[in-house]
Amino acid sequence: MEQEALPPFLPLHLLFLLALFLLLFHRLARDLRRAAKVPGGRALTSYPVVGCLFSFYQNRRRLLEWYTELLGQSPTQTIVVRRLGARRTVVTASPENVEHILRTNFHNFPKGKPFTEILGDFLGRGIFNVDGELWRSQRKLASHEFSVKSLRDYAATTLKEVVNDRLMPVLESLSAERRTVDLQELLKRLSFNMICRVSLGTEVCSLEPSLPESPLARAFDISSAICARRGAAPVSAIWRIKRRLGVGSERELKQAVDEVHASITQLIQDRVERIVETGDRSSSSQTDLLSRLVSAGYGEEVIRDMVISFIMAGRDTTSAAMTWLFWMLSRSQEAERELIGEVDSAVGELDYDSLKELKFLSACLCEAMRLYPPVAWDSKHAVSDDVLPDGTPIRAGDRVTYFPYGMGRMEAIWGRDRLEFKPGRWLEGTDGKHGGELKKMCPYRFPVFQAGPRDCIGKEMAFMQMKYVVASVLRRFEIRPVDRDDPVFVPLLTAHMAGGLPVQIRKR
Ligand code: HEM
Repeated sequence: MEQEALPPFLPLHLLFLLALFLLLFHRLARDLRRAAKVPGGRALTSYPVVGCLFSFYQNRRRLLEWYTELLGQSPTQTIVVRRLGARRTVVTASPENVEHILRTNFHNFPKGKPFTEILGDFLGRGIFNVDGELWRSQRKLASHEFSVKSLRDYAATTLKEVVNDRLMPVLESLSAERRTVDLQELLKRLSFNMICRVSLGTEVCSLEPSLPESPLARAFDISSAICARRGAAPVSAIWRIKRRLGVGSERELKQAVDEVHASITQLIQDRVERIVETGDRSSSSQTDLLSRLVSAGYGEEVIRDMVISFIMAGRDTTSAAMTWLFWMLSRSQEAERELIGEVDSAVGELDYDSLKELKFLSACLCEAMRLYPPVAWDSKHAVSDDVLPDGTPIRAGDRVTYFPYGMGRMEAIWGRDRLEFKPGRWLEGTDGKHGGELKKMCPYRFPVFQAGPRDCIGKEMAFMQMKYVVASVLRRFEIRPVDRDDPVFVPLLTAHMAGGLPVQIRKR
């Protein structure tokens, strides 16, 4: 009776539910089989349709640690992350896989549209945000800034002026007045000025902490922070809709990008005028990227995008590395003593050659960046299907992420003392003391500057800059953090220390 009272379409409902259940069961079984087959896949529980959405959501505020734990448990240091609403992502901390992605099969792993779309409004078609021929030609052009001659001049003029004439007096007065200062903010302003000298031929920030950040630096900060949030958004449709409507963070981004574009365009026009007025197009008078590009006759938009990419690449990276180094030194008296021994033994003015001799300082910087890499992770997008050396299958369109933060903490790469700050691991012949030679390190084990054809073109300049600053500071001052709690590492486009690093500065 009751049966007859039921609506006639119910069996269809039941059939539909049964079919859905069977489909889900089939996909679950298939996913579990796949997870078991994919090396490392077992470490990450993935469900049909939603993938690992629940665990991802639970760990969303600690993704770095979560990925590092999963990679550490994976037999091949590789994991496959599938979740509803995001593309399949392979994250790897395996040096062999990293070499395959960044060198052996480089052409199959460009940055790709999903990456360049996120940064496109800000970086346009600058070197940092393009692939293929556009990238290759800009790379060739940029390489002039990093010749040995340019680097020698850079140490003798830019570093000397920016550090000796600008930073040192500020540190003197901070120490005399016993003022607490946010060292991270001070180093950020300094590195912004250093990269602006290289790319624009001018400085834009005041180092005096009581004065506000320059409008250009602030507009850069806002643009890069909002672009980083675009990249981390669980569903990309949201920022796209906000962008179309011109509301919220997207409105803020547009204003900041407009400000960056207007300032740089003004600088370009001033430079064009000056070059036309003086008629001087000789290469000897053009020490900065902007003048070189203007003299070579490039269009305004090309120059603007190239210069913005350069500033973006070179600004917060060095300040982040130095901030973490000063903090690590304050926690490791032995390393600090060794380093002071080395910088004190370097007689006379610092220059290109004497900086090269500061090997313990190089080791300290590498060790700080191993644990706190300025670029914590970096992604490419596969053009076609592939298989990584550890057997992980890659499908066209997958996001493939190499992960310097996790790699710096892998026992398989660095041993049981991987979490300790030990500059000696980078040196040979002196039992961890200064005076040793730097070990040759495989760039695919330590891809903090990326590696392969698209490695960081500014690496040598970055080391010179950081060594000049750290050595100059330590020769004359003692830096003591005010707060002893462990700082928090925040990985935006470039990583930084949450809340800055308040310090007291004393004369040595
Ligand atoms: C500690 C300091 C630095 C670190 C850790 C670092 C790291 C990196 C990384 C990981 C990349 C690859 C990013 C990507 O392709 O997504 C990169 C690219 C680049 N870096 Fe650096 N960088 C540093 C300093 C600098 C400096 C000071 C400059 C300029 C003076 C610079 C200029 C560039 C440029 C132009 C690129 C793009 C190269 C290309 O796409 O061919 N970097 N850097």
